[in-house]
Amino acid sequence: MIWRCDLTAQYAEHSEAIDRVIRDVLQSGRYVHGPNVEAFEHEFAAYVGTKYAVGVNSGTDALIMALWTLGIRPGDEVITTPFTAIPTYSAIRHVGAVPVFVDIEPDTFLMDLSKLAAAMTAKTRAVVPVHLFGNVVDVPRLREIVGPTVRILEDCAQAHGATLRGQQAGVFGDAAAFSFYPTKNLGAYGDGGMIVTNDEALARSARSRRMYGMVSKDEFVEDGINTRLDELQAAILRVKLRHLDAMNARRRVVAASYEELLNPAIMTPQRVSAGVVPNFHVYASLCARNRDALIDALDRDGIQTNIYYPMPLTEQKGYRGAAFSLPVATDVSRHIMALPMYPEIPEEYVRQTAAAINAFFSSDK
Ligand SMILES: Cc1ncc(COP(=O)(O)O)c(C=O)c1O
Repeated sequence: MIWRCDLTAQYAEHSEAIDRVIRDVLQSGRYVHGPNVEAFEHEFAAYVGTKYAVGVNSGTDALIMALWTLGIRPGDEVITTPFTAIPTYSAIRHVGAVPVFVDIEPDTFLMDLSKLAAAMTAKTRAVVPVHLFGNVVDVPRLREIVGPTVRILEDCAQAHGATLRGQQAGVFGDAAAFSFYPTKNLGAYGDGGMIVTNDEALARSARSRRMYGMVSKDEFVEDGINTRLDELQAAILRVKLRHLDAMNARRRVVAASYEELLNPAIMTPQRVSAGVVPNFHVYASLCARNRDALIDALDRDGIQTNIYYPMPLTEQKGYRGAAFSLPVATDVSRHIMALPMYPEIPEEYVRQTAAAINAFFSSDK
């Protein structure tokens, strides 16, 4: 079976170091908010290039906490993309804000910044650009469009280590939210998330709000919740962070192989935006025809693929909000599919996958 993402391969490669840190944490008696969380926050902030990093329980919580500490309140409008994972939307809803959707570009699948100004109103308080599949939105250009007072929260859940003009995704906005869900480029063995920012007051507030609003054992200063990163996940993530650049480089080699082996007129890969070194969190292509039949044929050959995303999220049953005209996202969702992609995937699997796709199209005339 060729999985779209095989997490056991990564564990096998780093199991010795991971087993050791897990044992160390278990023997230490410190299980939440201990030395590993603190060290990982410093290491991750240094990696991304921000002054502060605040660990939380998930990427969704990182988005919610960042919106909260950025001062987004009920009724505020927050602009984002309809072509993203549901949590981008859930977080905006959770703080009571009103999501406003801007359609995507047909080839990069990122928010179309040329349509952003038209979506702004007097109630626009924030924009959440999503660095989808590890391609990076031009946030400096976005800043020029929205001006200095609108808050920018980068959704970096899929963008660990991706860069724009030499700088890491996550340094451009007022704050950024990362997820360490197991399948992410930097993945834990459970849930985890991180807020990064250069804003000291924001970091301080996020730090207290993640633990009931407390700043010390006997003092709480504001409203808060419980969203902590635990020591086991932090210790595991510290090990994996040391390999993140190498793992992303391997993903780029896999992407280059697909590009060489597949016909771009039939399987058109996501266009990488100018100045971006992507992390290929997902290797997404637009399939010119018969996508669903291709997915079934690959499945019969033991090759797992996936559709990210089957529809703009405004078409989901749980969506609560206004209707938007999103023709590009709708069209992309009908053609897009994700091929097997993870750093440890054997080259032979990549060749088998490409051969199966080519064989399908040679017989489908
Ligand atoms: C774009 C995007 N935003 C937010 C999230 C939420 O992260 P988590 O699953 O850690 O809550 C995810 C991951 O699922 C994601 O892909």
